[in-house]
Amino acid sequence: MGDILALGLTHYPPIMGHDEDMPWVLRWTLEDPAIPAHLKDPANWPEPMRAEWGSDDGRAGAAAHRAGLVDGFRRVRAALDEFDPDLVLFWGDDQYENFTEDCIPPFALLAYDEIESRPWAKPGRERNVWGEAADTAFRYQGAGEAGRWLAGALLERHFDVAYSYKPLHYEGLTHSFLNALLLLDHDRAGFPWPVLPMPINCYGRRVISFKGGRSRFADASRPFDPPSPMPARCFELGAATAAALAASPWRVAIVASSSWSHAFLTDHTWRLHPDIEADRELYEALVRGDYDQWRNTTLADVERAGQQEILNWFCLAGAAEHLGVKPTWSSFVETYVFNSNKVFATYPPVPSPRR
Ligand SMILES: [Fe+2]
Repeated sequence: MGDILALGLTHYPPIMGHDEDMPWVLRWTLEDPAIPAHLKDPANWPEPMRAEWGSDDGRAGAAAHRAGLVDGFRRVRAALDEFDPDLVLFWGDDQYENFTEDCIPPFALLAYDEIESRPWAKPGRERNVWGEAADTAFRYQGAGEAGRWLAGALLERHFDVAYSYKPLHYEGLTHSFLNALLLLDHDRAGFPWPVLPMPINCYGRRVISFKGGRSRFADASRPFDPPSPMPARCFELGAATAAALAASPWRVAIVASSSWSHAFLTDHTWRLHPDIEADRELYEALVRGDYDQWRNTTLADVERAGQQEILNWFCLAGAAEHLGVKPTWSSFVETYVFNSNKVFATYPPVPSPRR
């Protein structure tokens, strides 16, 4: 009762496609007329970026990147199998999918009873690495009762979370949750645990104005939206969630779902590659359990580094500090070419204090 397992992974969409398509974000960025021509020339790229791009436009680099990610998904899945929770809570970003102009909650709990998704039914998504048909449906059990309970427990802890019992603008689960489920089931053994998605408004100033996505440098005149919740608040939310769940009747896995710095959000690299240095610094702090560094990171730091989605990991870091744990295993899958650095982490399961 109340045992908690903390985990972290990526939901990087191109890993679900084929190697030759994996660098498509970089290819798209290279067509931005505002980027000086000499910076688009691979001869002027940082050495590790040139090596990853190679002489085959990143084909071998994509295979190597995939190998690192698939290994991460399998390790996180093995920890989940071993723990065998009553439900799995995911922190993930909503990129102008379920939440749009009529309501942007900073935090929400999707207390659904059942969810059906057809990830390959959208135009352009048919070519998946599993070779599954466009109409393939995935059905997941929701965690409606636990979602209602957790909303109440967080409200009592002064976290004013939104909640919903059915999707608003998006059929099935949005990308950060659905991709995590599809990738945690990379070997297609099924996903037997109920799912509790907790969307975080990671894109903040860019969630409506830029539809939580890519843009050209020339698009800069659009007015920004209000910001995301502050990183420290996400950290506190993670701690409060862990505290609430430790007192719950359920064994729960809590999972951060996102990549870290995204090239398309990192202006100081001309959006050509992610902010490797900023990601490395936070990663090293995560590994050594230096949670003060996380707590003291500002939203300005996060936005400069194109790390909007890492707010999901701030929730995880806050939970980990509350639970008094450091990762038992983690990996940092660095890349210059494939849009974002990815991190995986597994933590030791923490028994309920009520035991
Ligand atoms: Fe995302």
